[in-house]
Amino acid sequence: MSVPIVRTLKELRVTVANWRSHHAKVAVVPTMGALHEGHLSLVRAAFEKADRVIVTLFVNPKQFNSAADLAAYPRTELSDAAKLAPLGVHMLYAPDASEIYPDGFSSNVSVTGVSEGLCGAFRPGHFDGVATVVAKLFLQTGADLALFGEKDFQQLHVVRRMARDLDIPIEIIGCPTVRESDGLALSSRNVRLTAQERALAPRLYEILSSTAERITGGSGVQSALDTARSDILAAGFQSVEYLEYRTESDLLPLSIPDREGRLLVAAWLGQTRLIDNVEVAVASKELTF
Ligand code: PAJ
Repeated sequence: MSVPIVRTLKELRVTVANWRSHHAKVAVVPTMGALHEGHLSLVRAAFEKADRVIVTLFVNPKQFNSAADLAAYPRTELSDAAKLAPLGVHMLYAPDASEIYPDGFSSNVSVTGVSEGLCGAFRPGHFDGVATVVAKLFLQTGADLALFGEKDFQQLHVVRRMARDLDIPIEIIGCPTVRESDGLALSSRNVRLTAQERALAPRLYEILSSTAERITGGSGVQSALDTARSDILAAGFQSVEYLEYRTESDLLPLSIPDREGRLLVAAWLGQTRLIDNVEVAVASKELTF
């Protein structure tokens, strides 16, 4: 069994219209390919909620900050299709670039608020690129629901906000981060780590998790964050771009664990930028702040 690959908007629309005429519920899983278990977990979650599942594969130039990063991004369409086929995916939409950015394309979808700070502060224009391509993929597929990973937690918030603001009738579902057995969050960029870097990469998640526990346990937030930052550097990371404690529901800065929170981090290990995040539970009522 193989997965049908569709490259044009016209063919995509004809196929989806046919599904719809049979009252099928349609899910879309947007990706940039180089698929791993994190992506496949979204596909499995899609099958639980929809009758037809489209995976999109488009390495979106508009969301990269450097030409070198774009050029180095892995492109493995054949093996991606081979990973999707056994799951029964109904379509791999891998559009020609001209279907996404035709000549003269001049529009931009820009989300303020949730896209500011965190990755937004270090990757200028990145979330405009994401919001623009995801808006197009939603409108092109006309899907009823879309699945995104919590691994890219800020992206999930940006996409939710964009769909709500633009009245795109699609339900956005966030799915938990899939990790290696040692805790490292799966990422298409992990292949760039040297063996030595790969061995110490899981420290990021360990430090995040223990810091989250300390915050819930009543340690002062600022001192917990300071300790975590120096622990990450001591573990062998070159730099910490950001390490922040934010609200789970709207990504606002948080200073005490009186509501559901997230710790979010971006740090450089050699030539590779790793991002991760963990939940921070609410502290028990006995603790006073
Ligand atoms: P990409 O990095 O390919 O990721 C596609 C989807 O897989 C995203 O929703 C991402 O959060 C999810 N994902 C990645 N690693 C994961 C993991 N370890 N566990 C769970 N989910 C994981 O994110 C993008 O592509 C692009 O920005 C895109 C949304 C496709 C727009 O171009």
